[in-house]
Amino acid sequence: MTAPPPGPIDDPLEDAVNLDDLEALARERLTPMAYEYYAGGAGDEVTLRENRAAFARLSLRYRVLQGADRRDLRTTVLGQAVSFPALVAPTAFHGLAHPRGELATTRAAGAAGTVMILSTLATEAVEDVVAAASGPVWFQLYVYKDRAATEALVRRAEAAGCGALVLTVDSPLLGRRERDVRNRFHLPPHLRARNLLAAGMSELGPDRHDSGLAAYFHTLLDPALTWADVGWLRAVTRLPLLVKGVVRGDDAARALDEGAHGVVVSNHGGRQLDGAPATIDVLEEVVDAVAGRGEVLLDGGVRRGADVLKALALGARAVLVGRPILWGLAAGGQAGARRALELLRAELDLAMALAGARSVAQVTRDLVSGIDGCGRGCTSGPLDLG
Ligand code: GLV
Repeated sequence: MTAPPPGPIDDPLEDAVNLDDLEALARERLTPMAYEYYAGGAGDEVTLRENRAAFARLSLRYRVLQGADRRDLRTTVLGQAVSFPALVAPTAFHGLAHPRGELATTRAAGAAGTVMILSTLATEAVEDVVAAASGPVWFQLYVYKDRAATEALVRRAEAAGCGALVLTVDSPLLGRRERDVRNRFHLPPHLRARNLLAAGMSELGPDRHDSGLAAYFHTLLDPALTWADVGWLRAVTRLPLLVKGVVRGDDAARALDEGAHGVVVSNHGGRQLDGAPATIDVLEEVVDAVAGRGEVLLDGGVRRGADVLKALALGARAVLVGRPILWGLAAGGQAGARRALELLRAELDLAMALAGARSVAQVTRDLVSGIDGCGRGCTSGPLDLG
């Protein structure tokens, strides 16, 4: 009898060779309602698809013979050291993916040497998450009509030890995610938005006609938010502030005028305004408008180390990764979320070696051009980056 050929090592996480493999694993484990909630976007999901497609339209004009034997992926974001320039994006309801929910995700982020951004709509409370953490935790904030409850959330994030606030500004109402409308998306009875327990706003039950989350937003979150509220938040807390959800240079500049320390170029993973541009396509406009007055991060469609490289080359300080972390979490809890981060890190390390960048500082603008090789100053071709 001959020995079987060496094959897969029969560990689904180890066998996942990229982030899409983790999604396939996750899909087998999640309820259809949870999978569609995480995977879906608004409307026709044009923006959802574009976020990825736009990365694919960019090419990398690599440098040769740069001595790529050692790469240093470390950087800082708002002064926080990270082992590589990818942070865990805020995403809601990790308890739908795994019983340990955000506790597992946060430990994975810490083990990978990066920041966990905890959603207001977490299924674990911020105090418990920070207590379980082995690395930095930042807090994503939704502003409720009840400002006292919102301020209480900020105080709790501060007291727990969160290092920064990430204010989401692209969601005065929830985008119409048709998959969730059809599924009447809701939390199963054992799950709560635990940061809102004290305020009595932790339940997200089914709505008769809509996504339960859309109904929750409509009832409780404040659609009247203006730029003045960024000033309000700056007055309420001394935590560093990122404004998340901008796709325009003028909005980014305004965020800094109002006292933010940076912005996240984001269209909420294609879940809000369908038809919004792909984030990578507007990154350079935002970076130019910010003009070094703050840090610019990006999320949306990052699935490859080469995507991270492209974002850095176009001026992002770092990227945030959302869905792939949830796929890892669903596929294997803390180890799965860690696997997602390690796959991305390994791909970025390889991409940097192949592009001739030994450090994040060496990931410069000239590395990226349109897929036709047309870079800055080029006036023709399908993509004008100039
Ligand atoms: C929550 O923030 C969501 O986008 O579903």
